[in-house]
Amino acid sequence: MDPRYHVADTSEIITPALLIFREQLEANLRHMVQIAGGPERLRPHCKTHKMSQVISLELQLGITKHKCATLAEAEMQADAGVRDIFLAYNIVGPNIRRVVAFCQRYPDVRLAVTADHSAPLAALGQATSAAGVSVDVLLDVDTGQHRTGITVGPAARTLYEQICKTPGVRPGGFHVYDGHQHQKSLDERRVAVLAEFRKVQAFRDELVAAGMPVPRMVCGGTASFPIYAEIADPTIEFSPGTCILNDAGYSEAFPDLEFRPAALMLTRVISRPTPDRVTFDLGYKAVASDPPAGKRVSMVGIDDAEQVLQNEEHLVIKTSHAAEFEPGDDAYALPRHICPTSALHKEAFVIVDGKLAERWPVASRDRWLTL
Ligand SMILES: Cc1ncc(COP(=O)(O)O)c(C=O)c1O
Repeated sequence: MDPRYHVADTSEIITPALLIFREQLEANLRHMVQIAGGPERLRPHCKTHKMSQVISLELQLGITKHKCATLAEAEMQADAGVRDIFLAYNIVGPNIRRVVAFCQRYPDVRLAVTADHSAPLAALGQATSAAGVSVDVLLDVDTGQHRTGITVGPAARTLYEQICKTPGVRPGGFHVYDGHQHQKSLDERRVAVLAEFRKVQAFRDELVAAGMPVPRMVCGGTASFPIYAEIADPTIEFSPGTCILNDAGYSEAFPDLEFRPAALMLTRVISRPTPDRVTFDLGYKAVASDPPAGKRVSMVGIDDAEQVLQNEEHLVIKTSHAAEFEPGDDAYALPRHICPTSALHKEAFVIVDGKLAERWPVASRDRWLTL
């Protein structure tokens, strides 16, 4: 076991537990700032951790611009002292009145959201202008992920014109998330990312030439932000998220990135049902189940662990080392996908200098807080 992940006394930690190793978390934050060339161009996403204590560490590093995906996360960020929040989500239905309530509750926060369709944008503008508030709206640009957004071109220009003309909203620029760019080789990833981004830049230039303000382009995630950081355009902001805690999936997928895992699961043996099986209290109610069964965690230090069964509260592994485990023994597991994993936990146990130091609530894991 890597000594960085040593925990001296686990007797106060109820398992299955999300552990955050604070020194490694801070190292990841510093590395993120270093890649960005400074805190000014960063707009990190909080989806990975959902904790106001992490936001406070980012603020201490001078990171003033922040990104989120839910109104609960936005509320957490505002309460943590963030004054520039980008809720990178298309606002529809009751979320329209929640956005208005947010603006009324936090008049000193500059809130931005996204849009990729005309009708919800019009409804948002009506609601905000009727309430006497305003939000920035970023055009959600689809660069190939085909999850949300609109491809650059005449329809995108018409929508941006609507953003510019709608009372109660301000033109905020573009949202350019490219989470589909998963090339293992940095060189191949760079070629693919830049091929799309050149089209976005040309579109930006076209709109600016037509008199429309495009103050910012919020680009990329962990895999692509080092590529955007190479471009000398001060209107580009980078929005990585996963690298803050990092996980087995990203460590494997992107060997060029030097972020280390800052979160591990502590689990305990609850049974040894057969001579070659060990069962842990690490079901999929404790660790994200979006990776395929058998690959949801890496069992630290059990090289031949084969994950043969996972239920809600059980993880069964097959290993030639089974006889070395007794019920009650500790084990550590590295989640493959940390973002949905942290959302499964009420609190994280924070380890500093090898000891349990604090417990941080995973404050915005809920869909709504008060708004
Ligand atoms: C819109 C958006 N921005 C930023 C991110 C952060 O990307 P990553 O997790 O690769 O750092 C995500 C991740 O899902 C996202 O959906």
